[in-house]
Amino acid sequence: MELADELGGTILIVDFGSQVTQLIARRVREAGVYCEIAPFSMAEEAFAKLSPSGIILSGSPASVPAEGSPRAPQMLFDSGLPILGICYGQQVMTKQLGGEVRPGHETGEGGEFGRAFLTVTEDCALFDGLWKVGERHQVWMSHGDKVTDFAPGFRIVAKSDGAPFAVIANEEKKYYGTQFHPEVVHTPDGGRLIANFVRHVCGLSGDWTMAAYRDAQIRAIREQVGDGKVICGLSGGVDSAVAAVLIHEAIGDQLTCVFVDHGLMRANEAAEVVSLFRGHYNIPLVHVDAEEMFLSGLEGVTDPEAKRKFIGKTFIDVFEAEAAKIGGADFLAQGTLYPDVIESVSFTGGPSVTIKSHHNVGGLPERMNMQLVEPLRELFKDEVRDLGRELGLPDAFVQRHPFPGPGLAIRIPGEVTKERCDILRKADAIYLEEIRNAGLYDAIWQAFAVLLPVRTVGVMGDARTYDSVCGLRAVTSVDGMTADVYPFESAFLQNVATRIINEVQGINRVVYDYTSKPPGTIEWE
Ligand code: XMP
Repeated sequence: MELADELGGTILIVDFGSQVTQLIARRVREAGVYCEIAPFSMAEEAFAKLSPSGIILSGSPASVPAEGSPRAPQMLFDSGLPILGICYGQQVMTKQLGGEVRPGHETGEGGEFGRAFLTVTEDCALFDGLWKVGERHQVWMSHGDKVTDFAPGFRIVAKSDGAPFAVIANEEKKYYGTQFHPEVVHTPDGGRLIANFVRHVCGLSGDWTMAAYRDAQIRAIREQVGDGKVICGLSGGVDSAVAAVLIHEAIGDQLTCVFVDHGLMRANEAAEVVSLFRGHYNIPLVHVDAEEMFLSGLEGVTDPEAKRKFIGKTFIDVFEAEAAKIGGADFLAQGTLYPDVIESVSFTGGPSVTIKSHHNVGGLPERMNMQLVEPLRELFKDEVRDLGRELGLPDAFVQRHPFPGPGLAIRIPGEVTKERCDILRKADAIYLEEIRNAGLYDAIWQAFAVLLPVRTVGVMGDARTYDSVCGLRAVTSVDGMTADVYPFESAFLQNVATRIINEVQGINRVVYDYTSKPPGTIEWE
């Protein structure tokens, strides 16, 4: 069966380098339709792979009137498929179909940036069940250039003060263009406009599900792997776990998982991973207890980068040795996600396509001469969680906060010892238990305790104490790239502080970290 049939139809998103192209994909998938993003320079290949039912042209930092600015491949217009152009996408479509686009300063009106209001002037399929003629609606604009003359066959269906061509439509061809960005949350009805395009205009049913995705991936994994052997490193995190369970469903015991326990895990984490994989799924699992090796190598190491480098290298050494013991493997499985593989295009449209590549176990595939199996490459983080649930992973596991590869080592500034890891594990467990009890766990992107290399004086039961300081961190975030401090009630923090000081020997003071990212990072090292 064709990929498009298997997935219930697809949409191709052509990327011209906008900062928010990924949000278009989010909105299309929220409408229950599978889509992929391709840089404009690779749109033809993606078209052949996806056999899409419709095309969306993204925004861009480039300017259509500027020489050398990117264009959509002509074959997209020749395909006869519906097209939605967003911002630059609207302008480039207009230009390529015979209309005119001019820089804002030439029109004497300047651009429009931020919140704007448009007025609906005519009915249009994009507005079905949503917007009526004469209504005003909030949208989000971000453009300098503007369409000054539309292409033959188009008409204006909505206008704003700064953009007389706020929405244009050629219903016969099923071409639509919005000057605003429907994909961002500041266009409150944007998701529904995009849903109208993919469902009403492109005729897709919107019933793409994780079950369909899982089945398509299982077939793809079987095809790729054949009767080869696959090895998968488990980190204790959600991504590698979901990848492993999916691959196991596809190829059974051709998969072996290796869990390198570096002794820098949180309380009970290692036991949970082992019982989930061996007990619940019956997946062949090599559990390597390498605590001694990691902790002895970390003796006297205080520099954050030196810690990270040592842990990364030792992880690869241990993993490689275990792989050799089980007779090697042809494939290495990784839980790489979509945001890590989307290719971002340069806005000049030149050949310098930057490809972000992300290897969870960097350097290993080349060193061991293995091919990669990455069944989550098309998914966003929350979709991985949905897939995990689809595969029967327990909710508590699927909803876990991210945890860094180097583990507690980068939450213990200064020297890492077993004693300090144990102290931190206890404090961290109390903090997370209180967060769960308060029903706050899912509202927080990541929360953890940090053990500082600072001792302060305290008094407990008439005795003087001289113990370590524990820092608490909790942030909200969408992707970990930027983060805000989670605003706990002070009574909550006081309670956590009291419990930690009373129950964890070695800590006599607790502080809360009020630093956002930037300027801070989420982890302390
Ligand atoms: P920072 O500290 O850079 O962290 O603001 C952003 C997100 O990435 C996680 N993180 C890591 N994850 N290996 C990982 O797998 C690492 O070396 C690593 N360092 C940071 C961090 O926990 C946060 O979610």
